[in-house]
Amino acid sequence: MAPTDFQRYLRAKRTLDDRSLDRRLLEQLRAGIAERGADRDGPLRVLEVGAGVGTMIERMLEWDILPPGPTEYVAVDVDSDAVDSIPGRLVDWAADRDVTATTRDTGVVLDGPDRRLTVTTAAADAVAFVDDAAREWDLLVGMAFLDIVDLDQLPTLVSALAPGGYWYFPITFDGGTRFGPDHPADDAVERAYHRHMDHKPGGDSRAGHHALDRLRALDGVTVDGVAGSDWAVYPQDGAYQADEAYFLRYILATVEGAVGELDSDAPADQTLAEWLSTRRRQVADAELSYLTHQLDLFGHVSPRSE
Ligand SMILES: C[S@@+](CC[C@H](N)C(=O)[O-])C[C@H]1O[C@@H](n2cnc3c(N)ncnc32)[C@H](O)[C@@H]1O
Repeated sequence: MAPTDFQRYLRAKRTLDDRSLDRRLLEQLRAGIAERGADRDGPLRVLEVGAGVGTMIERMLEWDILPPGPTEYVAVDVDSDAVDSIPGRLVDWAADRDVTATTRDTGVVLDGPDRRLTVTTAAADAVAFVDDAAREWDLLVGMAFLDIVDLDQLPTLVSALAPGGYWYFPITFDGGTRFGPDHPADDAVERAYHRHMDHKPGGDSRAGHHALDRLRALDGVTVDGVAGSDWAVYPQDGAYQADEAYFLRYILATVEGAVGELDSDAPADQTLAEWLSTRRRQVADAELSYLTHQLDLFGHVSPRSE
């Protein structure tokens, strides 16, 4: 059966993202928001756009990225099923930790020994949400997000930040998809896959460095850090980690769907079918490796001038 469970795919990529996120930028993020938290009376205000099933919230808590004290965390995604699953997932996550989870109509409150995180979820387009909310945030997060939204929307998204607020756009795809061992159709499949991305509304197979250029050019925006966060999935001792075999099967189904939609310059049907069947067998035999090139981007907007 073709793997089509998007939420399972997002959960499966958690271990992969954990390995790939650049630790230096995460340190900069932790230090930046700690300083901001210390300067504030109210809660730290975080907006995550394209939040999916909320794995970044778990990570921010598990890795102590959020400062002690109160944090208000709003998770927005256009996929209502994904975003609606977040409170339940966080309740499960809290169950074997020193954290009490209390669900509310709008989300969930997580109380730990030294912090309270109030998570609110919203099913909405990120830009419409920012426009409608007409309020400010201390941190804007968008993971694996800028490669699927129109980069013309970046100024609006960043305008949601309070003066001196931080933005963090990790795992932004930047134009490299490699499967191994080598197969003669690899180059044709990769070219067709990227071309399909480029033709999708808001899609950009080179979004990482395009986003960097856009952010650098924005008035009042400073880029504090850029780093590679390439994904590398590979078998060890004859098996993939956690649910990464499912992740690979989902990726192959995505490539199949994408390349199959092209009406020109795609590999011949038979070539694609043979490539897919080889790659699927390699996943089953724990032989396939998969690498993609991505960038993490981190920075801030200007503080209010005195
Ligand atoms: C590749 S997934 C990444 C999800 C999550 N950030 C992660 O890394 O696990 C991209 C997410 O962005 C959401 N999305 C796409 N376009 C959006 C938009 N215009 N506004 C809000 N969310 C959007 C999708 O529904 C999807 O959940």
